[in-house]
Amino acid sequence: MKNIKAYITKNKDRFIDELIELLKIPSISADANYKKDIIKTAVAVKIALEKAGCTKVEICETTGCPIVYGEKIIDANLPTILVYGHYDVQPADPLELWTSPPFEPVIKKTKIHPEGAIFARGACDDKGQMYMHIKAFEYMIANNNLPCNVKFMIEGEEEIGSPSLEYFVKQNQEKLANDIILISDTGMISNTQPSITTGLRGLSYVEVEVTGPNRDLHSGLYGGAVANPINILTKMIASLHDQNNHITIPEFYDKVLELTNEERIEMAKAPFSLEDYKKTLEIESVHGEKGYTTNERNSIRPTLDVNGIWGGYTGQGAKTVIASKAYAKISMRLVPNQTPNEITTLFQKYFKSIAPKSVSVKVTPHHGGFPYVTPIDNIGYKAANKAYTKTFGKPAIPQRSGGSIPIVALFENELKSKSILMGFGLDSDAIHSPNEHFGIFNYLKGIETIPLFYKYFVEMS
Ligand code: BES
Ligand code: MN
Ligand code: MN
Repeated sequence: MKNIKAYITKNKDRFIDELIELLKIPSISADANYKKDIIKTAVAVKIALEKAGCTKVEICETTGCPIVYGEKIIDANLPTILVYGHYDVQPADPLELWTSPPFEPVIKKTKIHPEGAIFARGACDDKGQMYMHIKAFEYMIANNNLPCNVKFMIEGEEEIGSPSLEYFVKQNQEKLANDIILISDTGMISNTQPSITTGLRGLSYVEVEVTGPNRDLHSGLYGGAVANPINILTKMIASLHDQNNHITIPEFYDKVLELTNEERIEMAKAPFSLEDYKKTLEIESVHGEKGYTTNERNSIRPTLDVNGIWGGYTGQGAKTVIASKAYAKISMRLVPNQTPNEITTLFQKYFKSIAPKSVSVKVTPHHGGFPYVTPIDNIGYKAANKAYTKTFGKPAIPQRSGGSIPIVALFENELKSKSILMGFGLDSDAIHSPNEHFGIFNYLKGIETIPLFYKYFVEMS
């Protein structure tokens, strides 16, 4: 692949411009007001796949946002790589915290990205990382060195739990048949230390509603005599962790697969500075489950976090009121062998049981997802590692991530194939946050590394 570097140098500006155009479309899947932008993005992805060299590209309608499918089949006897990614993005709020508007991409230099990074919602998660695959494919077609068949499945509902994809995958088993699934929707340790994600956490997401009196009350006339749902809710939430930051829900940890000592020792070898970690987040101390390191807490251990909490008066000034209702959105990250349904049921049962008689509690489950771990002794991992070794000058470190891509476990069950998670983002890229960005270095390194994965995977097959 001696041409790849020259090809990237020659086309670098165009690669960046094309991604910037894609990032301008606000494809927010969570908000129905952006439906036309979702469609516009799906069409843009379709055109990009066609231009890059796919011979069959279609926009597959679902009951939600469409899935873009494209393929290039060169020889039925050769292996097939299925590339998965998503074109939808998270909502951009809070808007006032962005230093430039989320859908007006600009390149800015940062300490970690001295050669510049593209700032925009979706730059890293996942438009930038998904687009690397289209450009890598374009290179292989243009240089006549595509070594195998390729299929692309780019969905538009990942950020809302992929509600349509399960049905689509089940209905299209043959169309999606493959030898390996390749995904860039995760991160790596740093720009000088590549890593391959070998695990994702699962997810159980619930919304709770605590109701006290049947209407909002004057907090002087009634205060002290009736339950205040906000007081009660916060107390209930606080009791979900004990003094060791262990989750108190009975049976919550029963199925958790503990790592062996050897595995934990191996994990601890990955480069990590707790001092830098605290410094970048401007915190004096970390916080988490007793007996586990920071890297263990955010990857191999299950968690429970409040994602949002509201109720009562939050406007200007002061209003003396006891609200009738209080709400919270709570997520639990799961690890093997926890299952989202079981955990949601355990939560539901326990949360209702700890409520005092003075309030009533409703728990509504949102989406969930299974955790995923993959071994490193397969050719997919080996090919990816060889590709990183070539482009970064050192082997990748296997690393379990704390994030979730629920569809990966489903792929394994339905399509019977492994997923290789070649992520090129950094934790500091601020995905889901204001000022999300993706390094130009990372974008181009991805385009450079992906064709090597194809080459080595086919050679090892
Ligand atoms: N790309 C992320 C997941 C991710 C990021 C995994 C970094 C590992 C490293 C994905 O788009 C995402 O945000 N997933 C959601 C879950 C989904 C069901 C909304 C998540 O992890 O919160
Ligand atoms: Mn993503
Ligand atoms: Mn995301």
